[in-house]
Parts: sequence; structure tokens; C-alpha cells
Amino acid sequence: MSSLTLSDEKFKQIRDLIYEESGMYFANTKKYLLENRLSKRLEEVQLSSFDEYYYLLKYSAKRKEELSRLFDQVTINETSFFRDMPQLQAFEKEVIPEILKRKDRGGQELRIWSAGCSSGQEPYTLAMILKELMETKAFKFVPEIMANDISGAMILEAERGVYMDYYLRNTPDYYKSKYFTHKGETYIISDAIKLMVKFSIMNLLDEEKVGTMKNIDVIFCRNVLIYFAEEAKKKLIETFYEALKPGGYLFIGHSESLHSISRAFKLMLFPNAIVYKKE
Ligand SMILES: C[S@@+](CC[C@H](N)C(=O)[O-])C[C@H]1O[C@@H](n2cnc3c(N)ncnc32)[C@H](O)[C@@H]1O
Repeated sequence: MSSLTLSDEKFKQIRDLIYEESGMYFANTKKYLLENRLSKRLEEVQLSSFDEYYYLLKYSAKRKEELSRLFDQVTINETSFFRDMPQLQAFEKEVIPEILKRKDRGGQELRIWSAGCSSGQEPYTLAMILKELMETKAFKFVPEIMANDISGAMILEAERGVYMDYYLRNTPDYYKSKYFTHKGETYIISDAIKLMVKFSIMNLLDEEKVGTMKNIDVIFCRNVLIYFAEEAKKKLIETFYEALKPGGYLFIGHSESLHSISRAFKLMLFPNAIVYKKE
């Protein structure tokens, strides 16, 4: 029986396959991480070598399904509610008011996209912020929030909307008591917020699916690019540029940058937050 050791050669083949399919890139230093995570999956599908597993991923009739399971295993889903407050303040106090001012001249839609939304904390945070603005009568129509992730397991969690208190560590008490029900060690997001977000499984490199995302006012794609190789980053940023309306905004992670990736956007500087604008 073959051992469950991932050879360098097989590591590179699986790494390249993951890259081609998702844009995520595992550097050589991540070999053991991949070996560890995939070993579990091999046991589940009762295969005894990475050679067989690679065959399953590459050639079998079930390859698409297995790739989805693989993404569930290898994606890094770290997130929280109200992650990076300065960016959220720029969204609430600068970006949305500026967009609404333009909308006064017509148009009753506000389309927000959380790309790589993990288990839903980011789009639900945006929904809470927008709900508050609606209550202060900043606008009356209901915004559309589309949220997607490559991991089906994460989308299921998001739709469930039940969270351990760890994920609310940055959440102001006001929002905690207004939009969650506290039950034991968990917090359940309110239906009013749940209804504002439409979740779906989407691979951001799937041109056909991503091509359906049009006329977007604001895109949040934070802490996703960081796992992508250069070419995939460029492709994704071009996609976002196409998806945005003129005057639309792109938020990426605090530690990410479009430097050497794209010159198409205008850099907007807000207190402790950089936002990219399509002019
Ligand atoms: C670290 S989480 C970031 C979550 C959230 N945006 C935040 O900043 O808190 C990165 C997410 O990107 C997703 N992801 C990675 N590659 C993707 C791809 N090609 N298409 C869609 N989602 C992807 C992962 O599944 C993961 O849930």
C-alpha cells in the first residue's frame, strides 16, 4: 500500500492544479500544510496515495465535485464581523454618501458585492451598516448585497448565520444587541439582516459566473488576493474593473495593494483606509 506522503513532484502537480482552477497559490513552504489538509480528504474518499487523488482531481468524471471538496479543505477562511473599522468607516461615511449624492439624480439601486465572503461576516457587517443608514433615512430603497465564495462549506455556514462569540470580537455592543440573538455560546444573526444578503458559491476565476456580476457600486474583496499568484490577481482586478459602474469603489485588504497589478483605478485616501475608485 502506498504511503500518504506527498512527494515534491505530486505537490507541484496538485499545487499547479489548484492555481489553475482557483488562482490560489501554495508556495513550496506550504507543502506540509497541503499534505496535512489533503490527507484527511484522502481518508474520506478512501484513497491510499496522492497519485490516485491527483488522478481523481484531474481526470475522473467526479472531478468538479472533488475540486469543490478540495477547496473546502485548503481555503483559509479567517474573518470576523466589523473587520478593519477604518475601512468600514470610509464605506459608511464617505463612499456610500458620495454614491447616494450621485443617485439623487436618478436610480434606485445600490449594488454591493462581497467577493470571497468566507462564512458571511463581511457581507452581514455591510448589511448592518446599510440598515442603519436606511433607518436614518439616508436612503429608502433596499440595497442588494451579493456575496460569494469558492467554498460551499463556507456558504452553508453563511446562510445558517450562527456564530461563535469569537467572530464578534470587533462588533460594537450596539450592533450586537440590535442585530443578534445571543443563545449559549453563539450569536444568531437577525432575519432582517439575513434577508439583505444573497449568497452563492462562486469561483472568482470562473469567467462565465463572474461575468454575470454587472453594474456594481461597491466591491469588497478583502484578504483574498493575498493567496493569489500575480497573474490571477491581475485577471481578477480586471474583472472587478469591468463589473463596477463608473464611479464605483473597490475595497481590498488592509495589507494588500494594487501596486504593480493595475493602474486603472484612482487611489482614494481616507483616514487609515485606502479605497480604489473607477472614474
Ligand atoms: C481570508 S478569507 C477573507 C474573508 C473576508 N473577505 C474578510 O476579509 O474577512 C478568504 C476567502 O476567499 C475565498 N477564496 C479563495 N479563492 C477564491 C476564489 N478563487 N473564488 C472565490 N473565493 C475564493 C476563500 O474560500 C476564503 O473564504
